[in-house]
Parts: sequence; structure tokens; C-alpha cells
Amino acid sequence: MKTVAVYPGSFDPPTYGHLDIIGRGSHVFSKVIVAVAFNIRKQTMFTPEERVGMLRTLTGPMGNVEVDAFDGLLADYAVAKGANVVLRGLRAVSDFEFEFQMAHVNRKLAPKLDTVIMMTGEKHIYISSSIVKEVARLRGKIDDMVPELVRDRVVAKIREQE
Ligand code: COA
Repeated sequence: MKTVAVYPGSFDPPTYGHLDIIGRGSHVFSKVIVAVAFNIRKQTMFTPEERVGMLRTLTGPMGNVEVDAFDGLLADYAVAKGANVVLRGLRAVSDFEFEFQMAHVNRKLAPKLDTVIMMTGEKHIYISSSIVKEVARLRGKIDDMVPELVRDRVVAKIREQE
């Protein structure tokens, strides 16, 4: 059976933690669709197009990964794309409550859509997109958190904003 997974997030910016989940997901599922959410409540550093562009470059070498952007309900988007799984990464117990709620809401909205949670690799459990931006703004090194391409874009964005 073909299992298509949607991996949603704001990816502002994408980090090694996200890439860890995408890479491992690509070995488990027939296809992984990385779905960049726009019109989210968060104020973002990068436009949806910029986030999609970075993710396309980073996941290019993984043959079965597609990058797309979506608006509205994740469940509707996943069904429209023919996906049967929502892929999510869990970093710590603090993530659990939100994931638990989200999985139930999505299954209520689309009963054939199941959520699969992968444990984020231990090297990456402390990373979040906000931490990357904060450390970079304060001139700290972010090389262990994001690939070079993302580091350079974050640093350039901060320079532009200052
Ligand atoms: N490694 C490192 N960091 C990770 C990570 C991982 N594996 N997984 C998540 N994170 C970080 C993210 O970078 C993000 O950091 P930030 O808060 O500093 O930006 C944080 O953890 C939270 O990530 P996530 O839970 O994926 O939230 P998000 O804002 O990136 O995405 C959506 C949330 C878009 C998936 C969710 O709001 C959604 O589905 N929206 C659509 C509307 C909808 O259907 N709502 C009803 C369903 S609940």
C-alpha cells in the first residue's frame, strides 16, 4: 500500500530537527509532503515562498520528498493531497499535549487520516526555530542547529532588519 505522509509546520526557518524527521520519514513512507503553513498566527521572519525555497533545496537529494505550502485546515489539505498520514516530531514531553490534541482534532475532521509521531533525534531535541533566530540575533553560532544555507539566510535577514 502506498503511504503518503504530510509533514506540516511553519518552518521559520527549517532546522536540523525538521530535516531529521523528514529524512527518517522518507525511509518509512512512499512519499513525504513537507507542508509549509502560511497565514499562521506567528509573525514570521521568512515569507512562505522563502521557506518553501529553502526546504526544496535542502530536501532535493531525497527522492520522495515534495515541498508545498498550505492554508486552512491541515486535515482538508491532507485529504486533498491523497495523504493517509500526518507525520509529526516529538522533542520532549512538553510537546505531547499539543500533539495529542492535534492528532485527535485531525482524526475527527478526517477519520481516515492517522498521525504518526517520530521521536526527534537526541542531538536536536533542544532546537526550535525561535531559538535559532534568537541566538543569531544575539550573534551566537547557529551552525549546529541549521544547515549552512539556512544560517546564511537567517544572518542576512537579521542584517536587513537592523
Ligand atoms: N526539531 C526541531 N524543532 C522542531 C521540531 C523538530 N523535529 N518540530 C517542531 N519544532 C519546532 C518548530 O520549529 C517550532 O518552533 P517555533 O515555535 O519556535 O517556531 C515549534 O517547534 C513548534 O512546531 P510545530 O508544533 O510544528 O508548530 P508550527 O507552528 O511549526 O506548525 C501547524 C503548526 C502549522 C502544523 C498547525 O498549527 C496546523 O496544522 N495548522 C493548520 C490549521 C489546522 O488545521 N488547525 C487544526 C489542527 S490542530
